[in-house]
Amino acid sequence: MILLLGSGAREHAIARALACSPQNPAIACLAANKNPGIQKLAEQFKVGSISDPKSVVSFAQKCCAKLTIIGPEAPLQAGVADALWNAGIPTVGPKKAHAQIETSKGFTRDLLAKYNIPGGPLYRRFDSLDGVAEFLEELGEDYVVKYDGLMGGKGVKVSGDHLHSHDEALDYCTKLVNRGGSFVVEEKLIGEEFSLMSFCDGEHLAHMPPVQDHKRAYEGDEGPNTGGMGSYSDANHSLPFLTDDDISHAQQINETTAQALKKEFSEGYKGVLYGGFIATADGVKLIEYNARLGDPEAMNVLPLLESDFVEVCHGIVNGNLDERNVSFSRRATVCKYAVPEGYPDSPVKGEPIDVSSVTDTSQLYYASVDMKDGTLIEAGSRTVAYVGIAGSLVKAEAKAGREISKVRGPLFHRTDIGTTELIKKRVEHMKTLRN
Ligand code: AMP
Ligand code: GLY
Repeated sequence: MILLLGSGAREHAIARALACSPQNPAIACLAANKNPGIQKLAEQFKVGSISDPKSVVSFAQKCCAKLTIIGPEAPLQAGVADALWNAGIPTVGPKKAHAQIETSKGFTRDLLAKYNIPGGPLYRRFDSLDGVAEFLEELGEDYVVKYDGLMGGKGVKVSGDHLHSHDEALDYCTKLVNRGGSFVVEEKLIGEEFSLMSFCDGEHLAHMPPVQDHKRAYEGDEGPNTGGMGSYSDANHSLPFLTDDDISHAQQINETTAQALKKEFSEGYKGVLYGGFIATADGVKLIEYNARLGDPEAMNVLPLLESDFVEVCHGIVNGNLDERNVSFSRRATVCKYAVPEGYPDSPVKGEPIDVSSVTDTSQLYYASVDMKDGTLIEAGSRTVAYVGIAGSLVKAEAKAGREISKVRGPLFHRTDIGTTELIKKRVEHMKTLRN
């Protein structure tokens, strides 16, 4: 039995990758909400706490799990991987100390500096206002303030977007200090963002194709930040605005970071190392690390995996990923999320949705949904995703757009993600920066 923790679209993609394995593994899922897609694939499905180490271990033992895969970050921060390993259950997903790569922005910046890993911006850590104004002066117009902990993507404030003067930045820092929190102030990097995720067995890495996510809620990258409205990856395992050097630098940064984590904790990182990179005029820089698969990025890459995902997971926990074949098919993907009207600030919730008109459901992924009186309803966050997969981005976009439009209910999606027009803008932006 393989136990999966979590029940969003990312975990639906993980469950599908497991179900494609020729080993035909039995799947159990400990879920936060009723995801009908995972329910269909899982032999056992239970809604319960996924972040309480004791109850997770107890459920894992009850269903005789031989392996656990942790989807989201909250259980990693809570030390669920540590508890599972202590109970003798190998786990894909880093232990609490290693997960600081995502849960503490300050830890990550210090780790890069300590091990001379390139790609870090100018930064300083603070737990009071002492020296903040002076450091902002040093940075000038381009600065970012980051709360040093998990805040559901809402802890980062960027100059120009959310902060319009040093006074506003200092007000935000004061709020964080009054809350008892520490924070990082750093240089604002300018360029095009991309995600490069690597499977990591503690020592060896296997890189996934790069993906570009779209954080803003509305067309043309307007509106508030979200968990990610959609994403794309290209058939050549690059992105139209990246050079081969950009990709190999990002891969090297992930590799050096994995080595640094091993040195730091005398034990390797086992799970997915997700580098949030930005290609700038000055080369590839690291925005942040996540300690898990991205959502929506997982839906781009997992359907392309040609290798047996169960074998990849065994490689990660056994430390012999280098002996396994990890390959991805050379096709383009475009993922689009349908989200509740009003998302992210005041999403409608509890309204019925209808997916019965979707023609090909093999790439429909359920996320924040629930069942009420036998009807599928919106649970208040990103609702369902559709991934178009084809030989070219144009065809993949057309399929994703066509199918996600057939989902009925008070929802909206970004029609521009993956379109030639928007991608051209990214390429032009990068060209201007590089010149
Ligand atoms: P994070 O929570 O670290 O992913 O930050 C959320 C978003 O803030 C990122 O996806 C970036 O768009 C932006 N961001 C974070 N750090 C920086 C930085 N140093 N320069 C520019 N943008 C940043
Ligand atoms: N796609 C952004 C994230 O998974 O954090």
